[in-house]
Amino acid sequence: MENKMGVGIIGCGNILNQYVKGCRAFEVLEIVSCADINHEKAAVAAEKYAIPQVYSVEDLLSDPHVDIILNLTVPNVHAEVNQATIAAGKHVYSEKPLATERQAGYLTLSAAEEKRVRVGCAPDTFLGGGLQTCRKLLDDGWIGQPVGATAFMMSRGPESWHPNPNFFYQPGGGPLFDMAPYYLTTLIQLLGPISRVAGADRISFPERIATSNKRFGDRINVEVATHSTALLNFSAGPIGVLITSFDIVASELPRIEIYGSEGTLSVPDPNFFGGIIRIRRAGAEEWQEIPLTHSSSVGRGIGLADMAQAIRTGREHRANGEVAYHVLDVMEAIGESSSQECHINIQSSCSRSAPLPLGLLPGRLDG
Ligand SMILES: NC(=O)c1ccc[n+]([C@@H]2O[C@H](COP(=O)([O-])OP(=O)(O)OC[C@H]3O[C@@H](n4cnc5c(N)ncnc54)[C@H](O)[C@@H]3O)[C@@H](O)[C@H]2O)c1
Repeated sequence: MENKMGVGIIGCGNILNQYVKGCRAFEVLEIVSCADINHEKAAVAAEKYAIPQVYSVEDLLSDPHVDIILNLTVPNVHAEVNQATIAAGKHVYSEKPLATERQAGYLTLSAAEEKRVRVGCAPDTFLGGGLQTCRKLLDDGWIGQPVGATAFMMSRGPESWHPNPNFFYQPGGGPLFDMAPYYLTTLIQLLGPISRVAGADRISFPERIATSNKRFGDRINVEVATHSTALLNFSAGPIGVLITSFDIVASELPRIEIYGSEGTLSVPDPNFFGGIIRIRRAGAEEWQEIPLTHSSSVGRGIGLADMAQAIRTGREHRANGEVAYHVLDVMEAIGESSSQECHINIQSSCSRSAPLPLGLLPGRLDG
């Protein structure tokens, strides 16, 4: 395909594997080079995934074959890498969160506007068949007018499996900044932007002990809240509850439910691209499983492919900086509400991204 866009990857850690596979499913993307602050990791990744060039971060940013940087670094350097990319005149697609503070997120978006480059940001799971089907059901009125929503991410934390768990307990981590992007992005894509929040959070365990193979017994100092509860007022009227936690041993709560005037929609885990969708309409005696309207055989990287395709055709891309900044604004406000013991009005807003067309061929994003 002549219209391929060159992708340079910065950050060759745990999630790289999923992105390489996900990106290679789309004709518009070609992974041309990679870099990591730990050069050895980049070299090993290049060998393992047959990535043609390994560079230092600086040299990658000046590689003329790279159109878009895929930023897979840890959260507290996302903004720095995103801004260096923009300064180099390249488009950037970042892992979430967009930044660890509003100000850095704002500077990223304004720099991109000035340089006329695009900013994309994970999560892109809302482009999978599971959440696109939920979007269609809502838009087609299957549960009537949305009234409220609940979203629960209850876990005991990632130190039992992640090879480098420290960043989850540093600023930019915690269950809110690590996992709420999936939940908030989904809620915002389904119900629209959020206008006000109230939050309460705590650090339940000031020290954690890693139990993954490589890090067994390592002590991790906890610097951020690990149990967070929020009330969300959506601009269009519905009211949501969000709990994200790394402090819960077990839970039977659902992931996400949307309550409407005519029924309830059970939304699958927003960390994945597929899942089971169920609906129970007023008068029905049972829940009904709904077949997916879009493919769930996609993975991390679909948002980047959509951005590349959008750059080629001049349309808007879906996993965009505006939504990611709104999510960041809401997350920061939840923490502020907890420490200031008051509601916080959200200054930013965003539009819901266009739904994906029906009947797309594999590897394509425009009908
Ligand atoms: N691991 C997962 O399951 C998962 C899932 C979804 C999203 N994510 C997100 O992906 C991102 C990366 O996560 P991960 O699990 O791969 O982390 P990781 O720690 O395994 O990898 C991060 C890599 O970034 C490199 N790095 C750090 N600072 C850098 C810098 N300034 N310049 C260049 N390279 C730098 C590190 O050396 C490391 O190789 C995070 O934002 C995380 O939230 C991870």
